[in-house]
Amino acid sequence: MTDARRGLFISFEGTDGSGKSTQMRLLAQRLRASGFTVLESAEPGGTPIGLQIRRILLDSANEEMAPMTELLLMFASRAQATAQWLKPALAREEIVLSDRYTDSSLAYQGEARGLGFDAVLKLHELLLGDLQPDLTLCIEVDLEEGLARAHGRNRSAASDSTKETRLDEQSLGFYQRVLDGYRKIAALEPDRFHIVDGRGTPEMVADRVWAEVQPLLVRR
Ligand SMILES: Nc1ncnc2c1ncn2[C@@H]1O[C@H](COP(=O)(O)OP(=O)(O)OP(=O)(O)O)[C@@H](O)[C@H]1O
Ligand SMILES: [Mg+2]
Repeated sequence: MTDARRGLFISFEGTDGSGKSTQMRLLAQRLRASGFTVLESAEPGGTPIGLQIRRILLDSANEEMAPMTELLLMFASRAQATAQWLKPALAREEIVLSDRYTDSSLAYQGEARGLGFDAVLKLHELLLGDLQPDLTLCIEVDLEEGLARAHGRNRSAASDSTKETRLDEQSLGFYQRVLDGYRKIAALEPDRFHIVDGRGTPEMVADRVWAEVQPLLVRR
């Protein structure tokens, strides 16, 4: 973004169940305790329109969804959240946290679904211009560990999430390709995209996240 006045934009990435939402919540608490105003967004979803798009994406009845449809719906949700929430909050110089952003489309639709990085980057440029997170934290845990965590959580929330499973029912090979996608981004953009060790207790990981974020706060 070219505006001289803007806040700080941090996104969280990682395979399913790696601890993104947990870490984003802990970071938001810590930032608010330090006196910052924080806006939290999540993909797909975030806004009321985004939540309607999310329902289409996750509905287990939508098995026949083409990868390009999935990509466009992800970008529709992202474009809405960016216009409605992210850009206004950044203009107010707030701290914006997003649970997933365009890097998820690079890793999931670009790499794992095979649409390629180029298609995703072109859509990003068309819809969002040069808006990028200042920092992206990709939480990395063993795939099996993350999926076991996610399944444990889904079981405990089973009653209302039974049909929100379309994107959760992928093979281990699929998630391995997602991980490959994230590692490619880390190699392409080492300054912005940092891989964070997600092993250990949530508090241990939160301290690693805080160590990444603190230098950006000092510079403001
Ligand atoms: N460091 C940790 N150690 C053990 N369990 C954890 C840890 N961090 C999170 N969990 C638990 O694992 C589950 C998944 O965590 P969380 O929802 O934060 O992951 P996520 O990356 O947001 O998942 P998803 O991709 O499905 O949204 C939750 O039940 C959470 O309480
Ligand atoms: Mg989550």
